[in-house]
Amino acid sequence: MSKIFLDTSDITSINSWNSVISGVTTNPSILKKEGGDLEEICKLMDGRHLSVESGGDFLQQAETLYKWLYPFSSGLAIKVPFLDTKGNHNLDIIRELTEAGITVNCTAMMSLSQIILASKAGAKFVSLFAGRIDDEGGDYKEVVKDCVTYLDNNFFDKGCELIVGSVRTVGNVLDCMKVGAHIVTIPPSVLQKMITHQYSIFTSNQFENDYITAEQLSGQRLGTSGI
Ligand code: E4P
Repeated sequence: MSKIFLDTSDITSINSWNSVISGVTTNPSILKKEGGDLEEICKLMDGRHLSVESGGDFLQQAETLYKWLYPFSSGLAIKVPFLDTKGNHNLDIIRELTEAGITVNCTAMMSLSQIILASKAGAKFVSLFAGRIDDEGGDYKEVVKDCVTYLDNNFFDKGCELIVGSVRTVGNVLDCMKVGAHIVTIPPSVLQKMITHQYSIFTSNQFENDYITAEQLSGQRLGTSGI
């Protein structure tokens, strides 16, 4: 069954979806836009997954983030982009961090070939950006399906999970879950759309108007003392 992560650093959103989320993912752009206190998010997650991304000097920043935040949450994973700004891979850094006992989420990946290499380097989470694949006309459903098949066949008991991120619509979420994505990280605005259906509201109104209370239904059997 696909797990749901929330793609946000907004504490109010995290609180309001707390009963369905298995984790939270952030990135530098989310933190810049939404703010949010990472220590507080760690405490809210209470051992559930939290991804925080390193940048600049990836290795040094990853170690510093981990030392700072791990005491607040054992579910911490440090995100490392698959490629740096010049197009060089970060596979050695992923390997080094993994060997030092740091959980790595290799991020910003767009292809099965990148996912294969990141998983082999030791990343425990591999993040595929479905919306960005779609932006360029790629078939993200096929890529997600291939990545799930590859990871399930090769990492079944070694615990490398696919996080599909960059989802823009409810349709994206459903497409990814239908092909077995291990995790889909969803922005609060998209999750909000997943709950809405006008006919459900209509139906709730009908039942609420017709509602007869438990006390009335049970009549004298409850007496005056109630249950
Ligand atoms: C996932 O981990 C990323 O934070 C995120 O989904 C990126 O999405 P974007 O393409 O909307 O920036």
